[in-house]
Amino acid sequence: MATRGTTKRLEPTEAGLDEAAALLRRGGLVAFPTETVYGLGADATNAAAVAGIYAAKERPRFNPLIAHVHGLAAARREGSFNEVADLLAERFWPGPLTLVVPAQGDGTVSDLARAGLPSVALRVPAHPVARALLERVGRPVAAPSANRSGRVSPTTASHVLSDLDGRIDAVLDGGATEVGIESTIIACLGPVPRLLRPGGVPRETIEAAIGRAVEDGSGAGEAPLAPGMLASHYAPRARVRLDAQAIEPDEAALLFGPSLPDGLTRARAVENLSERADLAEAAARLFSALRSLDASGAEVIAVAPIPDTGLGEAINDRLRRAAADRG
Ligand code: TXA
Ligand code: MG
Repeated sequence: MATRGTTKRLEPTEAGLDEAAALLRRGGLVAFPTETVYGLGADATNAAAVAGIYAAKERPRFNPLIAHVHGLAAARREGSFNEVADLLAERFWPGPLTLVVPAQGDGTVSDLARAGLPSVALRVPAHPVARALLERVGRPVAAPSANRSGRVSPTTASHVLSDLDGRIDAVLDGGATEVGIESTIIACLGPVPRLLRPGGVPRETIEAAIGRAVEDGSGAGEAPLAPGMLASHYAPRARVRLDAQAIEPDEAALLFGPSLPDGLTRARAVENLSERADLAEAAARLFSALRSLDASGAEVIAVAPIPDTGLGEAINDRLRRAAADRG
């Protein structure tokens, strides 16, 4: 087990940010807030530091990581941007969008962080604490979500500590994250952009910006483009039952909108993602609601239907993964 003594909780003050940056530059592991979820950061140019991420998360090695950089100039040093990539970067960075582009031959992101792929996943986050940290580190920071592999992504520093306390050097506490669901991942590896993972920027918003449809996932016959998209991801301990029209006795209920399902009084615990049926509010609360329903001890979390438009596509994607049979 990757024990690192106690994990420090750092405030995002000048001193806290300096300490976090120094830890990263020395090869340490520091979790930090982004506007989507908390990331578990390591110096992306340092393979030994990156290996520490995989160990702390108990994540399969073949899973490539997102390299976080402070701005477009730093991103261009790591990856090659075609016309669509340029347009997306200019329109949505800083923000909840990750671009997978061909890696530059002289890029600094380690092979291990890219899992040996010829491409690199790049993101410029908007969260002020992430930005201040990246500026101080001055190198790309590899950061998957700061949870144990296969568990629900963290949206607060306490979530991070409940999964990783004692396994990482520090967590920068920037409060609850605003978007609450991971970045949208778009591959710009050829003329046709591909949606590898729905996320914080809705598909419709991206399509409007580029004036064309994005295609889904990998093309027929190709290796999967986002190998991290394992079916059983984001799994709470409880079994997840989707499209629940009624709540069975002792189930935990995850609701959306003002209408209440039958049998709600029999529920062991109830969370409403958004009583006013606002998808942005629902995305922001999703992972924290799953954690709290899981903590109720219910064996089943029954999930009411959620519309599949806008941010609903990413919410339903995460819920389907949470419901997938873990074998
Ligand atoms: O919002 C987010 O994206 C958060 C915050 C911390 O930035 N990060 C995050 O990272 O969700 P992670 O590691 O949980 O998910 C990264 C995804 C994985 O599905 C991985 O397979 C995919 O990005 N990925 C990374 N590099 C790739 C590449 N070169 N080609 C295709 N997919 C890639
Ligand atoms: Mg993750």
